[in-house]
Parts: sequence; C-alpha cells; structure tokens
Amino acid sequence: MKSSKKIVLLLSIISASFFSSCNEHKSKEKEVVKKEVDFQMMENSTMGDDNRVSLKLNPMQKNHQLMNMRDHLDAVQNIVTLLSEEKYNEASKIAYTRLGSTTEMKLMCASFGDKEFENLGLKFHESADKMSEVFKSGDKNKSLKALSNTMNFCVQCHATYRQ
Ligand code: HEC
Repeated sequence: MKSSKKIVLLLSIISASFFSSCNEHKSKEKEVVKKEVDFQMMENSTMGDDNRVSLKLNPMQKNHQLMNMRDHLDAVQNIVTLLSEEKYNEASKIAYTRLGSTTEMKLMCASFGDKEFENLGLKFHESADKMSEVFKSGDKNKSLKALSNTMNFCVQCHATYRQ
C-alpha cells in the first residue's frame, strides 16, 4: 500500500511538471503564431493584389538597390552574431557604417525620386544611428530592442514599396 501511494504521488508530480512544461511551450507557440498571423495578414493583402507603391526604378537602380539590400541583411546577421558574443563595439561600428546615416545612404535614399520613400529611408538610417549608440552601453536587452526597432523599418518599407 505504502509503496503504491508513493508511485501515485511520483506519477502525479511527473505528469504535473509535464503538463506545465507543455503549457509553457503552448504559450510560447501562441506568441510566435500571433506574429505569423500579423505577417500573413499583411502578405495576403499584398499577394493577389499588390498594393505596394512602385518606385518605377530602371534596371541599373534596381540592381544597385538589391545589392544594397543584401548588404543590409548581411549587416543584421553580423550584428546578431556580435551581440550574442557580447562584442558590442564591433556591433556598434557595423550598425553605423553599414546601416546608419552615412552620406552614401542619404544620397541613395534621395536618388529614387519619391519623397515619402526618402523620408522613411532616412528615419530607418536614423534608427540605426541610435542603435549604434545603444550598443555602446553593452546592455543586451536594450541592444535587442534597438535592433528590433530598426528592423521594424525594414518590415514597414517592404510592406509599402516595391521596385
Ligand atoms: C526605405 C525602404 C526600405 C528599407 C528601410 C529597407 N528596405 Fe529592403 N527593400 C526595399 C525595396 C523597395 C526592395 C525591393 C522589393 C520589391 O521590389 O519587391 C527591398 C528588397 C530587399 C531584399 C531583397 C534583395 C534581393 O536581392 O532580392 C532584402 C534581402 C532586403 N530588402 C533586406 C532589407 C533589410 C534587412 C532591411 C533592414 C535592415 C531593409 N531591407 C530595409 C526597401 C527597403
């Protein structure tokens, strides 16, 4: 009797911890799903019927823009790695030199002849200037928030404009 009670107790502890970890997992899953739904809604509204504003770029501009964009993506990937290694000064340097308000970036944003696109581009680069400063603090949470803030501009612009 005694040992079977012990077994029942043990089983209920195991199942309780199993279910609570399942629940934790579920709530994490929910968060991810929520974000995906937001994104899907955005995708759907642009899939069948592409309402994004075309910048009407010529082939040379298109090529130049896409090269620049691939460099942005590479910069973000490098930043994530450097933050994970707590190399804040290197991350700060990349944030400014490859995503920040350099003369080259400002000229690039202005070269497409769309004032609203240019303004959004400039706000994006300014957010990267701030991100570069935040990295210098060496605070990982603040750094991730700043990165997320800058990446919101990537998402916002891609949802609004196409070549
Ligand atoms: C101010 C507008 C704007 C911002 C900000 C912006 N992009 Fe883009 N990006 C574009 C446009 C426009 C295209 C072309 C999309 C199209 O025609 O469908 C593009 C395309 C891309 C592509 C496709 C490249 C290829 O070779 O096909 C990548 C990758 C990309 N962007 C990454 C990024 C990342 C990462 C960020 C932020 C760190 C970012 N972009 C910020 C406007 C922007």
